[in-house]
Amino acid sequence: MRMRAFFAVLAATSLHGAVARLFIRQDYLPGAIEAENTFALRSVLNNIGPNGSQVPGAVTGVIVASPSTEDPNYFFTWSRDAALTMKMLVDEFLHGKTELRPYIQDYLKAQAILQTVSNPSGALSSGRGLGEPKYYCNLTRYNDAWGRPQRDGPALRATALITYARWLLATGEGSDANEAKEKVWPVVQNDLNYVAQYWNSTGFDLWEEVSGSSFFTTAVQHRALVEGSALGKELDVSTAAYDSQAPNILCFLQTYWNGQYAVANINTQSGFSRTGIDANTVLTSIATFDPEASCDDALFQPCSPRALANLKVYVDSFRTIYTINRNTSSNSSAAATGRYPEDVYFNGNPWYLTTLAVAEQLYDAIQQWNTVSTLTVSPVDLAFWQSISPSTTVGTYSGSDFIALRDAALAYADSFVAVALKYTPPSGALAEQYSRENGTALSARDLTWSYASFVTMRGARLAATSDYAQVPSWGSASGNEVPAVCEASSVQGTYTPAVDAGAPPGSGGCTVLVTFNVNASTYYGENIYLGGNTIELGNWNPAEALPGSAIAYSAERPLWSFVVELPANSTVQYNYIRKEDNGEYLFETTNRTLAVPPCGGNNAPVEDAWVGPVGTPS
Ligand SMILES: *[C@@H]1O[C@H](CO)[C@@H](O)[C@H](O)[C@H]1NC(C)=O
Ligand SMILES: *[C@@H]1O[C@H](CO)[C@@H](O)[C@H](O)[C@H]1NC(C)=O
Ligand SMILES: *[C@@H]1O[C@H](CO)[C@@H](O)[C@H](O)[C@H]1NC(C)=O
Ligand SMILES: *[C@@H]1O[C@H](CO)[C@@H](O)[C@H](O)[C@H]1NC(C)=O
Ligand SMILES: *[C@@H]1O[C@H](CO)[C@@H](O)[C@H](O)[C@H]1NC(C)=O
Ligand SMILES: *[C@@H]1O[C@H](CO)[C@@H](O)[C@H](O)[C@H]1NC(C)=O
Ligand SMILES: *[C@@H]1O[C@H](CO)[C@@H](O)[C@H](O)[C@H]1NC(C)=O
Ligand SMILES: *[C@@H]1O[C@H](CO)[C@@H](O)[C@H](O)[C@H]1NC(C)=O
Ligand SMILES: *[C@@H]1O[C@H](CO)[C@@H](O)[C@H](O)[C@H]1NC(C)=O
Repeated sequence: MRMRAFFAVLAATSLHGAVARLFIRQDYLPGAIEAENTFALRSVLNNIGPNGSQVPGAVTGVIVASPSTEDPNYFFTWSRDAALTMKMLVDEFLHGKTELRPYIQDYLKAQAILQTVSNPSGALSSGRGLGEPKYYCNLTRYNDAWGRPQRDGPALRATALITYARWLLATGEGSDANEAKEKVWPVVQNDLNYVAQYWNSTGFDLWEEVSGSSFFTTAVQHRALVEGSALGKELDVSTAAYDSQAPNILCFLQTYWNGQYAVANINTQSGFSRTGIDANTVLTSIATFDPEASCDDALFQPCSPRALANLKVYVDSFRTIYTINRNTSSNSSAAATGRYPEDVYFNGNPWYLTTLAVAEQLYDAIQQWNTVSTLTVSPVDLAFWQSISPSTTVGTYSGSDFIALRDAALAYADSFVAVALKYTPPSGALAEQYSRENGTALSARDLTWSYASFVTMRGARLAATSDYAQVPSWGSASGNEVPAVCEASSVQGTYTPAVDAGAPPGSGGCTVLVTFNVNASTYYGENIYLGGNTIELGNWNPAEALPGSAIAYSAERPLWSFVVELPANSTVQYNYIRKEDNGEYLFETTNRTLAVPPCGGNNAPVEDAWVGPVGTPS
């Protein structure tokens, strides 16, 4: 009821002129933010198993993306969304919300189990399975075609759990130290080993659409190895792999910058033709924010010239394309922002979490400026500053000039929160998107990441305007030196089920990587699967068979490929399956056999040609 009143006031103010709106907004925004924050945190917990009121069926520690089961079906747990949400919960826990500890411990257990679940990306023994983007809410694998692997998940999970581990080590309690060493570290170690081994391989981006290298992924991988190394040293374990790879990742991160903004996706597949202007980059700046860092371009810190220039390019890209932004074309007022301007998902709309990210980046930047009480405007970010304070010139500002510029940034940040709240329904519910035409909520309802983004934005604002310390430093000072030459590199990792944290003993055993190539001509909409007598191949259940990749399919060679980890030293039976555009299956008329080599062995690719019926479009 309290919240309804706040929103009613906000809605009413939008009928008045711009000046009145600004004045009233500044009075009411903090109250409206507090009300929505309480609702948002509650709503996050409602989406977590086993007790979450919105997600019956989700098992212990599973953070469900959204309760929505159709149009779209988001009733899954994504490694990325869950880890970002858990980082928020750990930070809230650090601020005295002790009731959140069971959620953290349940999450740790669920992740220890998930690490051992063989899936279409692979298994634990090679590490590849850790790159699987999403699972069912009963901790089983999702088997349909999907944009996989996604290599940000392990890094983000490590970051959330490292923050918790450092708290455990700081309490001085022996049982807490044991929890850090025996339960948290083994899960984190698998994830860090994954990053050290696979950071230099392509994968899908955070929107699950583009295969290549993603700015967000590279940046969060760097952060994870830097803070993982610091934690490892505290625990007296070897961190050589992390220390050798982190500088190479930071070097690679620099190559996304094109002189005007960070290009979200590079090393992309042919045919990719976007500007690369993307919320990916704004989310990067808040995911790698370190309150003790300077305005460092190399680390893309929120207050860095590059990150501010990038922010302006990103926001401006939505000013003319969304109807609800028509009155914001002056470039000095807030705008509704989405994932990227070329987006067509649900017809391409603004998202709550991306609009709030704009505000959060600026609140983070204000924390960094406040630390030194000065602010330097450079040629790189001059256009950003002039858009919110037209007479600004290049130079260093202190005293009242500093305060004036900082407060212009604060007012600008606040106006993005006001946009998100203006299009939040009276209930406070945050869906995934709001309509570009009229601002009504669209797509998945009660999106966990939307709520988490509200809570982190609120914490950042509080930290920008008071002595509240929202997030601890991740020690970026020990990982901010860019090597002169970028090296392509990788360190082979070892992967062990985190049994003390809850992983099933004996799981994630020795596997051998096998590539299957099959020549099978298909029509557009028809897909080839690989079925067989192992869990990896779905135990002869076609709905659980492995989806193939047609990335190298051509007129000359109708190639479908599968890379799968199979139990070492075993005999596997398999065949290929056509899935028609109407969902019907067509099976090969023969079963095949493969002898998988012993542990540590290598298999030459299996070369097959389809034997059986040919499909026709329905
Ligand atoms: C879920 O409910 C059970 C039974 O009431 C309780 O023991 C458990 O602590 C709850 N879990 C969380 C994360 O609150
Ligand atoms: C897990 O959940 C999925 C989706 O609801 C379901 O199809 C599958 O049968 C469940 N598996 C188990 C072992 O419960
Ligand atoms: C691997 O690293 C090198 C050196 O930074 C870089 O040129 C290359 O694009 C990277 N490739 C991928 C897929 O990360
Ligand atoms: C304002 O934004 C538009 C995109 O909507 C951009 O083309 C233009 O350069 C911006 N103008 C200024 C002065 O920054
Ligand atoms: C833009 O402002 C005009 C004048 O205040 C108003 O009539 C119109 O409805 C506004 N358009 C949008 C999309 O908000
Ligand atoms: C708002 O726009 C969406 C499309 O973006 C449309 O589906 C919906 O019907 C519109 N709602 C209203 C109240 O006009
Ligand atoms: C292949 O083996 C499975 C499992 O035994 C069986 O159901 C299927 O009929 C076999 N297919 C052929 C073509 O023999
Ligand atoms: C492979 O399996 C066979 C029996 O299935 C066993 O005799 C042999 O020792 C195994 N070899 C290795 C290297 O594990
Ligand atoms: C698959 O097609 C290629 C190109 O036509 C051919 O060279 C290769 O021998 C085929 N493989 C099999 C197993 O038939």
